[in-house]
Amino acid sequence: MKLRSAAWFGLRNRDGFIHRSWMKNQGLPDHLFDGRPVIGICNTWSELTPCNAHFRKIADHVKRGVYEAGGFPLEFPVMSLGETLMRPTTMLFRNLVSMDVEESIRANPVDGVVLLAGCDKTTPALLMGAASCDLPALMLSGGPMLNGKFRGRDIGSGTDVWKFSEDVRCGAMSMCDFMAAEACMSRSAGHCMTMGTASTMACVVEALGMGLPTNAAIPAVDSRRYALAHTAGRRIVEMVKEDLRMSKILTRKAFENAIRVVGAIGGSTNAVIHLLAIAGRIGVDLTLHDWDVLGRNVPCLLNLMPAGKYLMEDFYYAGGLPTLIRELGDLIHRDALTVNGKTIGENVAEADCFDREVIRTAKDPFRDNSGIAVLRGNLCPNGAVLKPSAATPELMKHSGRAVVFDNIEDFYARIDAPDLDVDERSVLVLKNCGPRGYPGMPEVGNMPLPPKILKKGITDMVRISDARMSGTAFGTVVLHISPEAAAGGTLALVQNGDVIDLDVHARRLQLEVSDSELVRRKQQWKAPQPVFERGYYKLYFDHVMQADRGADLDFLPGGSGAGVPRDSH
Ligand code: FES
Repeated sequence: MKLRSAAWFGLRNRDGFIHRSWMKNQGLPDHLFDGRPVIGICNTWSELTPCNAHFRKIADHVKRGVYEAGGFPLEFPVMSLGETLMRPTTMLFRNLVSMDVEESIRANPVDGVVLLAGCDKTTPALLMGAASCDLPALMLSGGPMLNGKFRGRDIGSGTDVWKFSEDVRCGAMSMCDFMAAEACMSRSAGHCMTMGTASTMACVVEALGMGLPTNAAIPAVDSRRYALAHTAGRRIVEMVKEDLRMSKILTRKAFENAIRVVGAIGGSTNAVIHLLAIAGRIGVDLTLHDWDVLGRNVPCLLNLMPAGKYLMEDFYYAGGLPTLIRELGDLIHRDALTVNGKTIGENVAEADCFDREVIRTAKDPFRDNSGIAVLRGNLCPNGAVLKPSAATPELMKHSGRAVVFDNIEDFYARIDAPDLDVDERSVLVLKNCGPRGYPGMPEVGNMPLPPKILKKGITDMVRISDARMSGTAFGTVVLHISPEAAAGGTLALVQNGDVIDLDVHARRLQLEVSDSELVRRKQQWKAPQPVFERGYYKLYFDHVMQADRGADLDFLPGGSGAGVPRDSH
C-alpha cells in the first residue's frame, strides 16, 4: 500500500528532515514516522460554537483508537460555524469552510480523515470539502444535548424558543419566566436536541453510510459517544488500508437512502440544500425532483420535536437510527456500503425498538406521507420546498392576499404595527433573503405572526420566501424559492394585495398576476449590489448558485482528488 504521507515523512533527504524535524518539536518519537497511516482529525472545535465546544475531548478518544490500530493521528482545526452567534448567517460561510477543509486535507500528509462536526453547517461543510478530495473519510458527530428541563417538563432547543417568544409577544408568558428558561434549555454539551438541522444532518451522516451505526443519536455527554469516537479512530486506519474512499460510499443509492431517512425522521428542509451540494461535490446527479419523488410515500416514524413530542435523547434510548432504518424495510437500499465495511442492511438487521411511542412502525406511523414537498409555478419556476409534517393540514391548499416585506428589517419594523393590513387568510411574503440577497440565505423564513393574529388564538399562516427555516421551527412555510428575489425571480415582483395560490398536493405555487403585468414590473426592478465590493462576500455574491443547486459556489462542484502537491523547500 502506497500512502500519500510517505511523500512527506518517507523521504531520506533534506525535505524529509524538514517534514519530520519540526513535527518532533511536539514530542513525537521516531517510530511514528515509519510509514504507518497518518490520520487527520478535522476539528470544528471552538468556544464560539457551543455545540462543538466538547470536541477536543472527542478528538482525544479518536486518537486513542488510531494509535491502538497502528495509525498516527494528527488533529487540525478548520473554521467553525456556530449557529447562534455568527452574523449575518453561518450559511454564508458553509462553502468557505468546505474550501478550508478541502485544501487543508490535500496540502498535508494525510492518508485518511475523521471529520468532527456537530452544529448545523459544520456537517455539510466538512462532507463537501472532504468529498472534493475523496480520501478514506469517516464522520463522527458531536451528539445532541440532553433533554431541556423547565419546570417539570421537557423543552427542546429552538422549538421552545419560538414558542416562548410568541407567548411573550401575546402576553401568555412573562419576561421573567422567559429569561429563567435560558439555562434550562441548554444544560449539557452537544448540539440542538430537537430534530433540527444538526440532528437531521447527523442522521444523514449515518444514512449515507459516512458514520458508524448509532452515530446520530448518542447524547454528547454519554460515555458511549466517546467509545464510538475510539472505535472510529480504529476503523479509519483500516479504511485507509482497504482504500475505502468516500466515492465508494457516497453512491446514488446512499443519497436515496438519506432522502428517505430525512422523510422518516421529519427532518429539516435544510437537508435538501446540503445534500444537493454534497452530491455535486462527489459527482452524483441529484436534483430537487429526486426529493419530491423519493420522499413522497415515506411515512414519518419519529415522534420528535418540532413535529412531535420527544427529543434526541429519547430517540437514542428507543433504539436510535438503526431501529428507524430497519423499520423502513424496502424503502432503503440495504446493499449500500457504509464506513464500517458492512452494508447498511447488515448494520441494522438486529436493531430493536425499546419505545414505540418514540419510534413508530411503518404500519402505524407518526404521520403519513412525510418527506419534503417540492413546489413549482410562476413564483418558483426552479422550485421551492415545504415540509408537510411541520405544516397545518388546512393550509396546504390556500389562496390569499400577499402582505409583502422587502427584507427582514422591513418585516421587523412593521409586523407588530396595529394598523398592518393583514388577516389570517393573508400570505406573508418576504423578499431578498436568498443566497445573494441577504447574503447567505438566513433562517428567517418562519416569520413570526402579527400580534393581532396571535391574539385571536391563531398560530399558523402561509408564509413564503427565498430564505431558509430553522429545522427546529414549524408552520406552513414555503422556502428556498428559486430563482430568489435578488436574482430577479418572480418573488421580486410580488406586490401587496396580489393573490397567491398554494396547493401542496398538486405541488403548485402560483402568483395570480398576468404575464404582461409581470413583464412591466420586471422592467422597473433594480438588481441589488453586493454588501462589500471585496473579500469573501464579493466572491460569494458573484459565484453562489441558487438553492435548487445546493447554493454551492459555481466553481466548486466536482473534486480535485488528493494527489500530492509539489514541494516548495
Ligand atoms: Fe448548534 Fe442548533 S445551534 S445545532
